[in-house]
Amino acid sequence: MKVYKAGVIGTGFVGRIHIETIRRLGNVVVEAVADMASAEMTAQEMNVPHYFSDYKEMIDKMNLDMVHICTPNNTHFEIAMYALDHGVNVLCEKPMTATVEEAKILAEKAASSGLIAALNYHNRFYPMNHHLRNIIRDGELGDIFSITGTYTQDWLLNITDYSWRLSVKESGKTRTVADIGSHWMDLVEFVSGQKITAVCADFSIIHPIRKKPKKQVLAFSTDQFAPEDYEDIPVKTEDCASVLFKFDNGAKGSAFFSQVIAGRSVAIDYTIGGYKKSAEWRSEVCNELVVGRKDSFCERSEKGPVTVHPDSRPIVAYPIGHLEGFPDAFKQCFKQVYGSIGNPDSPRDYADMQDGLHEMILCEKIFESDQKQQWVEINP
Ligand SMILES: NC(=O)c1ccc[n+]([C@@H]2O[C@H](COP(=O)([O-])OP(=O)(O)OC[C@H]3O[C@@H](n4cnc5c(N)ncnc54)[C@H](O)[C@@H]3O)[C@@H](O)[C@H]2O)c1
Repeated sequence: MKVYKAGVIGTGFVGRIHIETIRRLGNVVVEAVADMASAEMTAQEMNVPHYFSDYKEMIDKMNLDMVHICTPNNTHFEIAMYALDHGVNVLCEKPMTATVEEAKILAEKAASSGLIAALNYHNRFYPMNHHLRNIIRDGELGDIFSITGTYTQDWLLNITDYSWRLSVKESGKTRTVADIGSHWMDLVEFVSGQKITAVCADFSIIHPIRKKPKKQVLAFSTDQFAPEDYEDIPVKTEDCASVLFKFDNGAKGSAFFSQVIAGRSVAIDYTIGGYKKSAEWRSEVCNELVVGRKDSFCERSEKGPVTVHPDSRPIVAYPIGHLEGFPDAFKQCFKQVYGSIGNPDSPRDYADMQDGLHEMILCEKIFESDQKQQWVEINP
């Protein structure tokens, strides 16, 4: 069995999850980590043989098969370009970049490189989402006319909650939309098979001034500091976004995205309406799918190798009743990404850089729509 060598760049919240996930694949070793602040500590705590503060040095020296880019959004472009320029495959965190201009260049680079360049829109890999995609393709719901839902969190509710995501420079023009709205949009487009063609958005900021800790904090940190350890900063990006959508088959929909809804720690859901049946999925009960019928019982099906569509069986790891969640969706995504190295016929359900560019364009158009307070076409 070919064993691949991976390097993880950025060892904060999600980088550590990448390290754990890579190790579950069985045919990939985490050879090195790079982080401008915490590479040595992570290497020691997670038993990684090599560490670097400079990702370029890691790529130059380590002869890696894949780099995992787990740094803030505004660094993805330069790191991915450097890796592809040096012949290294890329598995990049979402959103793809901080700007559409960068995303266009990177998508072209990825297409011409002949290398794997994937994005971790991992929600596609919850088995019941994958299953629903396949039964929609088979026509079980009938034609789709509505797609609605939410992605809400609460980790930025308090005025002292802070992340680099609050900085336009590091996150991009949108925050909640880019950070979690892009997950929802990628997911419903993947599941329904429909692309978003127009958006109408309205944003709100609940804390126009926030208190930023003077010390570094990682994402989802619960650290508390003394009052003198905070400074006031103005906030320019949305805490909440309401968005109306039009899809390319004529379907319409809406979503609410927010990072400040108390108690909704990380909750993504959607309902898809079809002429025959509807379907509803919620991340809090991610092993279930509810298929709604008008004249009969609703069907509540549970994830399992025998209950899902035959084409979804490869992404179910455990028997029915054995729950699979967030880390398992990462694992199934990574498994397909590594499985496609040197294997053009392997399944590629993961998002590529073209998908990432599309999401970046959606985020920009949603921003434009809020600014203009009117509908904006995606490809006018
Ligand atoms: N797929 C998902 O569900 C998911 C979940 C969380 C985060 N993310 C994405 O992952 C990325 C990282 O988010 P996070 O929450 O882990 O952030 P984080 O703040 O917890 O960690 C970021 C790390 O990157 C390091 N870093 C910053 N710039 C660097 C550089 N130039 N070179 C090397 N290291 C650098 C920082 O020191 C820090 O350790 C973001 O793009 C985010 O959108 C995706």
